[in-house]
Amino acid sequence: MKPQTPPKTYRVKSFGCQMNVYDGERMAELLGERGIAPAPEGEEADLVILNTCHIREKAAEKVYSDIGRLVLAGKEAGKQPMIAVAGCVAQAEGEEIMARAPAVSIVVGPQAYHRLPEMLDKAQKGERATDTDMPAIAKFDALPARKKRGPSAFLTVQEGCDKFCTYCVVPYTRGAEISRPFKHLVDEAHKLVEAGAKEITLLGQNVNAWRGEDDKGRQVGLGGLIRVLAGIDGLERIRYTTSHPNDMDEDLIAAHGEVAKLMPYLHLPVQAGNDRILKAMNRQHTADSYLKLIEKFRAARPDIALSGDFIVGFPGETEAEFQDTLGIVDEVRYAACFSFKYSPRPGTPAASMEGQIAPEVMAERLQRLQQRIGAHQYAFNQASVGRTCTVLVERTGRHPGQWLGKSPWLQSVWFEAPAAIGDLVEVELAEAGPNSLKGLVKAG
Ligand code: 5AD
Ligand code: SF4
Repeated sequence: MKPQTPPKTYRVKSFGCQMNVYDGERMAELLGERGIAPAPEGEEADLVILNTCHIREKAAEKVYSDIGRLVLAGKEAGKQPMIAVAGCVAQAEGEEIMARAPAVSIVVGPQAYHRLPEMLDKAQKGERATDTDMPAIAKFDALPARKKRGPSAFLTVQEGCDKFCTYCVVPYTRGAEISRPFKHLVDEAHKLVEAGAKEITLLGQNVNAWRGEDDKGRQVGLGGLIRVLAGIDGLERIRYTTSHPNDMDEDLIAAHGEVAKLMPYLHLPVQAGNDRILKAMNRQHTADSYLKLIEKFRAARPDIALSGDFIVGFPGETEAEFQDTLGIVDEVRYAACFSFKYSPRPGTPAASMEGQIAPEVMAERLQRLQQRIGAHQYAFNQASVGRTCTVLVERTGRHPGQWLGKSPWLQSVWFEAPAAIGDLVEVELAEAGPNSLKGLVKAG
């Protein structure tokens, strides 16, 4: 590879989960520290970071086609961008990417991107750089202070996963569970609020597995952290995602009833409604233990909105077992859900299990599941009509004079009234659609 001119502009393309979005923001901040600016809209960037996701489907192929497109655009523009591949595909297939895609200068895993500046130095000298080490804590210590502006911010508190669900690559790409230290998180939350955040969403692959020592030396879990963050003036809303049923503790459940700033929303994936499938998935919980947990949350916070993740067509899933998934959806009456066709991930136990389900069967099950989920979501929105709540304004709406934001239950709400991004506006939910609601602001 030839020496490359130092990039002046960058673009980060993040795919996949919110943790990737967070990592993308932090990489952007690192580049900002180096004087590299975001490429203006519509202009080619000197440095492109593909921040990839490996959780489902043809993730790796997508990376290669993105690289191909960048090379082609570079040829047309007469100037090749420097290309970095980050995220979980980089972690899982770094060496292969380097071998197959000579246009790539940098491969950096999700636990190593704090070393991006050194890697840029190498790339500028014409050397290709790969770093897929996993010293997770070092990363956060090495990153520059946060400067993000915007009413709703992410804060990664925990990373990695020790659960080893048989379908999932995360334990391999993100590594073992680690918790960031309490003090670092409180400091980062203060900085986010000083920069304009009204809402913070605490992130982690198993966010409720977070454990730490508070300022009085006590061992606390996520509930304890949330109680402390709720004391920050100017921070109005706290959320967290994604949780695992087996890491829930009583204090976090109780916090939902006691901490006003903690929003009445819980994303708690169950994946399937049948115990044989849950066992084959190595979820280590049953449908019934999950439902009991949901009952506890509803007892602590009766209006809590629930969301979940589902996989259809896990190897060996019969029609009757799939029916149990529809059954649990009806029982919980989710306010929102994410649902996916099972996708064999290289190296995971489920990928070599017998009874892989035909794609058309999966597609048909997914359609039925999504219909059912959609019906519950619409019903939840309709049942919200008449409620008065705050909306955190995130952006302008489709038409002039309209604003769009989120209700406490994470519904999209639009309204027409004088407002600005970042305002918390009190509205009455007046009309419900399947995916959003109309709010009315009371005059005076
Ligand atoms: N196939 C389909 N969906 C998957 N998920 C994780 N791994 C797979 C896979 N191999 C889904 C799960 C998880 C969400 C983030 O992605 O539902 O909760
Ligand atoms: Fe993947 Fe299961 Fe860990 Fe979630 S809990 S990241 S689905 S292995």
